[in-house]
Amino acid sequence: MAILVTGGAGFIGGNFVLDWLAGGDEPVVNLDKLTYAGNLETLSSLEGDARHRFVQGDICDAALVARLLAEHRPRAIVHFAAESHVDRSIHGPGEFMRTNVEGTFSLLEAARAHWSALPADARATFRFLHVSTDEVYGSLGPDDAPFSEAHPYEPNSPYSASKAASDHLVRAWHHTYGLPVLTTNCSNNYGPYHFPEKLIPLMIVNALAGRALPVYGDGRNVRDWLYVRDHCAAIRCVLAQGRTGETYNVGGWNEIANIDIVHIVCRLLDRLQPSADGPYERLIRFVADRPGHDRRYAIDARKIERELGWRPAESFESGIEKTVQWYLANPGWVANVQSGAYREWVGMQYGQPSGAVA
Ligand code: NAD
Ligand code: TYD
Repeated sequence: MAILVTGGAGFIGGNFVLDWLAGGDEPVVNLDKLTYAGNLETLSSLEGDARHRFVQGDICDAALVARLLAEHRPRAIVHFAAESHVDRSIHGPGEFMRTNVEGTFSLLEAARAHWSALPADARATFRFLHVSTDEVYGSLGPDDAPFSEAHPYEPNSPYSASKAASDHLVRAWHHTYGLPVLTTNCSNNYGPYHFPEKLIPLMIVNALAGRALPVYGDGRNVRDWLYVRDHCAAIRCVLAQGRTGETYNVGGWNEIANIDIVHIVCRLLDRLQPSADGPYERLIRFVADRPGHDRRYAIDARKIERELGWRPAESFESGIEKTVQWYLANPGWVANVQSGAYREWVGMQYGQPSGAVA
């Protein structure tokens, strides 16, 4: 038995692979293109571990995916691979359409061909788990109820539109072909190995370097934060017990305005690594807003709690402290991301990038 993970060198996929192999011995085949967001250093503790088979490649490469499915016969595909940064999607939406929409389509077709040819017992237990986002539901007003699974899709950014499209494909492949799919729509994650272009790691890394802390607009946009390892636990739970064809919203019941997040991070750093120049809040700068900036996301996670018994283990207070501690303890990981040296890791570790298998 094995599972195929896509995007397992990214932030959430990397945490998922590490947690999966810490909790059991079922091998992981990890297919990742290693875009700027893929970082094999995150997985360096798995060097030489036969349970982890890393394959550099594109989910759009139908022949490669078909070969991996035939060779490893995974019992499940857990699909994280995506372009994930809203600001990048505003500057250049093309790659988001290619990976998030065409890539998911290509993966679904490969999964369908593989699944259709399985013996009946393996067909019955096979799963395709699609990892998606709450951003597909659009933006909430201040008094609106949090997003339930029945909330209409109203994506507003090229990123969320591409993820919404991929969710619809996954739904259709179940409805039309009977592919046993599961979809999770999760709120904003934070935690170790988060690429410092996203709010929380950017604030930590910039503050420590004495750089400005850019807050978009009035800083009152609200996100619902979940510690990444709680998200990984939710995915394992849905994979094990979720009802096929269903979607599960995953969130931490932690609605916090961006400016409040920045203050929390600054105060934690003031305590854990004070700056000689004074409190880190001195670095906060309000900057031009993101075009089309969604005002508020909030997840109603009662379905996964009720049906599958999942609950987050971390409060925001405990999770953010762990996160800041992790960045303080791992300056090498951050430095290699900032210098770009993490991109040489593949070359150093695996020879020339070439669809190599480790
Ligand atoms: P990430 O950007 O950190 O990682 C994405 C990974 O996918 C990278 O390793 C990248 O190399 C890989 N990848 C990109 N294009 C690929 C392709 N064509 N073929 C193979 N691999 C490719 O993203 P993340 O934050 O870890 O998010 C993972 C998934 O979770 C995404 O689908 C995202 O939409 C979803 N999600 C993210 C959040 C969040 O807060 N980060 C919240 C909810 C859902
Ligand atoms: P981000 O981490 O990019 O996640 P998403 O846009 O997918 O929710 O941003 C989280 C929030 O923080 C979002 O409202 C935009 C805001 N933000 C800033 O204010 N400054 C920044 O430098 C960044 C990257 C984000």
